[in-house]
Amino acid sequence: MISTAGPPHTDDDWWRSAVVYQVYVRSFADSDGDGTGDLQGIRHRLPYLRDLGVDALWLTPFYTSPMVDGGYDVADYRDVDPMFGTLADFDAMITDAHALGLRIIIDLVPNHTSSAHRWFTAALATGPGSPERARYLFAEGQGAHGELPPNDWESIFGGPAWTRIADGQWYLHLFDPAQPDLNWRHPEVRAEFEDVLRFWLDRGVDGFRIDVAHGMIKADGLPDVGFSTITTGQRQVELLGKGRLPYFDQDEVHEIYRAWRPILDSYPGGRMAVAEAWAETPQRLARYIGPDELHQAFSFDFLDATWSADSFRKVIDTALAEATVVGAPTTWVLSNHDKQRHVTRYGDGAEGLRRARAASLLMLALPGCAYLYQGEELGLPEVLDLPDELRQDPAFLRTGESRDGCRVPIPWSGEVAPYGFGPAGSELSWLPAPTTWRALSVAAQTGVPGSTLELYRAALRIRHAHPALALDADGVTWLESGPGVLAFSRTAGDTTLTCVVNLSGAPVLIDGYGQPLVASDTLTGQGSGHLLPVDAAAWLERH
Ligand code: BGC
Ligand code: MG
Repeated sequence: MISTAGPPHTDDDWWRSAVVYQVYVRSFADSDGDGTGDLQGIRHRLPYLRDLGVDALWLTPFYTSPMVDGGYDVADYRDVDPMFGTLADFDAMITDAHALGLRIIIDLVPNHTSSAHRWFTAALATGPGSPERARYLFAEGQGAHGELPPNDWESIFGGPAWTRIADGQWYLHLFDPAQPDLNWRHPEVRAEFEDVLRFWLDRGVDGFRIDVAHGMIKADGLPDVGFSTITTGQRQVELLGKGRLPYFDQDEVHEIYRAWRPILDSYPGGRMAVAEAWAETPQRLARYIGPDELHQAFSFDFLDATWSADSFRKVIDTALAEATVVGAPTTWVLSNHDKQRHVTRYGDGAEGLRRARAASLLMLALPGCAYLYQGEELGLPEVLDLPDELRQDPAFLRTGESRDGCRVPIPWSGEVAPYGFGPAGSELSWLPAPTTWRALSVAAQTGVPGSTLELYRAALRIRHAHPALALDADGVTWLESGPGVLAFSRTAGDTTLTCVVNLSGAPVLIDGYGQPLVASDTLTGQGSGHLLPVDAAAWLERH
């Protein structure tokens, strides 16, 4: 058995087993009919989230921003963009959320600011060598006249990671040119973000999702990677999560988190942080978490696992083992605003949906914390056929890859698009929902037995109430199972819950695990056992 037991738990440990629901603010609910989701929209929908059974919300950036990268280009870290509302709306939203027992995690974007941030406009206004430029990564170019970038680094969004300005200097942007990278070796940068943390902690936030948590420190001397799309045809970004790059996962980045942790710990109620970090190995990823750094790091290996029992088994075992070493919980995720939705990744259509539902039951039975992405509880697929002219992802123009298809506004109700995203009668939504989403809306699925929404509601209800899925229950015990089948149990006292997932090509007989509690597909009886269909998962309980 792989143990996940740790020290005795208190309410401060809520994050260790929480189910966190990611709200992509722009696309969740639009209160004022301008076609863009907003904080008041979230506030009105809080009862839906409470009834769904999640513990916390993670809100993507809602700060003042030119919205070049969906708000991950922050111009003012201490204010709300007018398109999303006001600070007063934020306060009202968090007050209501807390009253409903929902915690609020917000997104912190420390690797880069927007080029519209006052620091960057000051850096441009002053000359090379100025203190204002020292907060960013400005450098001279190579070549006889400095006409070549300072090194071979590539932007994650494609093309060189450097842009030249009028006076001849270049500045680094690992993402869009409108997202200049900060110099985290500068004390003012560190002080600023510690203050930003306190600003939001004082407003009551329960945690932070740290954007590009592996990126803030760049290797001394800004050395070349050694290959690039131009020289070898391989994009540097393909090494993400597989290899080392001089601009990611540098040891010194951990000093930043060791400075942040005491700040989080100085507030009551278990304030936490989750890293969006990509590292070469699960071992290096685990270095971001633990009692003196961050609380969690997403297991993107789980998200990247292919639809096979071996693939899932391997990433689950590795993640559980690494988490145990550092005494932190595992952090599971299947979809987010950067990745193709898991319905589509697993094959799309009816097959993709079946598999997505099964994978979700698998995830929710595992020890640790699980992050859901808005709309996965409705079984939404990726929208693959958005017209190019509507796509807004800055990566699209540079690489042809676009993350817009997982960011289409949520269908809530009604017969016509955008299906209740805005107030009654509003026809606007910043991306159009496909007509097939009429049948997938919250209203269309509510109370419908077997709907994906009711499956999530049932699973979350059980997860909360069942002792074998509680924080202090045992870890994962793998059971003998046929090829292509995953089966594990978790036990508390004399109650055992078994999760079985059928990734094989034929129905499997599940016998001896007890009474089914919930299943992603219809089980048929056979003697004392049940037949679990292909691409399905079930939870069963035995005393
Ligand atoms: C966020 C992306 C964003 C990028 C740059 C990512 O990790 O999740 O949506 O484009 O950081 O901030
Ligand atoms: Mg709006």
